[in-house]
Amino acid sequence: MAEKNWYKNAVVYQLYPKSFYDSNGDGIGDIRGIIQKLDYIQSLGVTVIWLCPVYCSPMKDNGYDISDYYRIDPSFGNNDDLDELIELSRARGIGVVMDMVVNHCSDQHEWFQKAIADPEGPFADYFYIRKGQQSGPPNNWRCWFGGSAWEPIENTPYYYLHVFTKQQPDLNWENPKLREEIFRIMNFWLDKGVVGFRLDAITDLKKLPGLPSLPPDGEDGLAAVNRWTENVPGIGAFLSEMKERTYGRVNAMTVGEAGGVKAGELMDYISLDDGYFSMIFDFSISRVNVGFYWCDVLDWNTETLKQRLQQTVKQNGSLGWMGIVLENHDQPRCIDHFLPESGRNFYGASLLALMQLMRRGTPFVYQGQEIGMRNVAWADIQEYDDVSSHSQYQEAKRRGFSDAQAMAFIHSMSRDNSRTPFQWSSALSAGFTTGKPWLKANEQYAQINVEKQEQDQRSLLNWYRKLIKLRTSSPWTEVLIDGSEEYVYQEIPNLLAYVRELNGQKLFILCNFQDREQVLALGTFQTILADNYGRACLTDGQKITLRPYEAVLLA
Ligand code: NOJ
Repeated sequence: MAEKNWYKNAVVYQLYPKSFYDSNGDGIGDIRGIIQKLDYIQSLGVTVIWLCPVYCSPMKDNGYDISDYYRIDPSFGNNDDLDELIELSRARGIGVVMDMVVNHCSDQHEWFQKAIADPEGPFADYFYIRKGQQSGPPNNWRCWFGGSAWEPIENTPYYYLHVFTKQQPDLNWENPKLREEIFRIMNFWLDKGVVGFRLDAITDLKKLPGLPSLPPDGEDGLAAVNRWTENVPGIGAFLSEMKERTYGRVNAMTVGEAGGVKAGELMDYISLDDGYFSMIFDFSISRVNVGFYWCDVLDWNTETLKQRLQQTVKQNGSLGWMGIVLENHDQPRCIDHFLPESGRNFYGASLLALMQLMRRGTPFVYQGQEIGMRNVAWADIQEYDDVSSHSQYQEAKRRGFSDAQAMAFIHSMSRDNSRTPFQWSSALSAGFTTGKPWLKANEQYAQINVEKQEQDQRSLLNWYRKLIKLRTSSPWTEVLIDGSEEYVYQEIPNLLAYVRELNGQKLFILCNFQDREQVLALGTFQTILADNYGRACLTDGQKITLRPYEAVLLA
């Protein structure tokens, strides 16, 4: 980790270990499964893997509720397995990034158990524990998954705060003892050789002073906590201290899941010089189609994507750095999310890949994205595991939507869309497990799987490999990393086009987001470096006729 901004050259592959590969037939993916698939991961050309949480957890929110930060959950293996994964990955030039969930822990964590056993004792101050009011909870905050953000502590007048589920009590960062505990945990993992952290819900750390009630925004008289408590002034002191005491010492890579950062504050977070983090995720186009509630459907089109991307680039300038994402374990699959029906095929999927992987910033590819895994549409809400799918379903029903309408929102947005077992082959359960998978495999696995795409030179998988290689080790690497990103041809509908430029070297990225042809003048760009239709050269020097969902990279 010698070079200061080494993470700029990285391409990250996000693993959702529970669904990646099951090595022991218990239906749950595990660390040994990842070890067995390291050849595959390396073949993608990625240089970092980010593991979603694998610590001990009662799994109320699939590991984002940690009960022991120092130990690997037995369902995933043990600490030795993780050491081995770090070692074997390092030998292949791949660094391991751990997910750090430090805004909250599990209600089964020993700190919390001690806190509720004595709500006036020392551990109570590790959390937000307050006496209720006559009428109920200490204030009117609504948690992310619906209902009050306060849960009563049985047989006491006290309540505790949880911004997420009630099994995820918020940690009190105002308490220096708690901060010490967290720094110890982070240093423990750094000392094991992880190359960085993805920091969960990190802008939630600071709560509004005095924990005041807020103007209600719903019939329940509550106010959505996420609208008010993200990035509260004063949070910077916590983040600076965390950096200095932990990852800053070893120049590790950090990526913040940082909602609520305003344009004017962005550089404090992501300045290449001295940001709190190496980068935060660019979520500007994620969930472009819905509001906080999935039943609040929004109007959008390709122009919306163009505007948002351009705006981020403007805010970011050349001084900051972003994590570039299309998918993750909280989002639907990108093919279903960003493309109309007519583009939900190889061409649309490869177009999205080019759009993402040529951008300025560190790209994150989520497991299965590289083979074009798709959303699922199960008939019954009971088939869904994801906690937010259940709360969103309830909200839609409460607003009077029919069951079919409520399920349509779940089909489009459920987090289970991206959590179904990874599709290795056409064997039973997509070759993910020999047992019963914890979540059903997507029925399309016989058509969409790694085994099949390995045999096809022109598969999406090989397209991803090609683009990743262009980024990490080609004559174009420098411009792809450090070049500016400028959006052009803005006025042409359904065309997303941008230029990367560094010291006179230029690349042109063209994405025809429609099922019709489009003719375009090319200027000085004459060499095709990649084209999802396999076009190798230009036949009419001055212009190009882009075919439906054609994506081209030119120099
Ligand atoms: C964001 C994580 O990505 C999500 O999966 C989780 O539910 C919440 N943070 C709470 O930890």
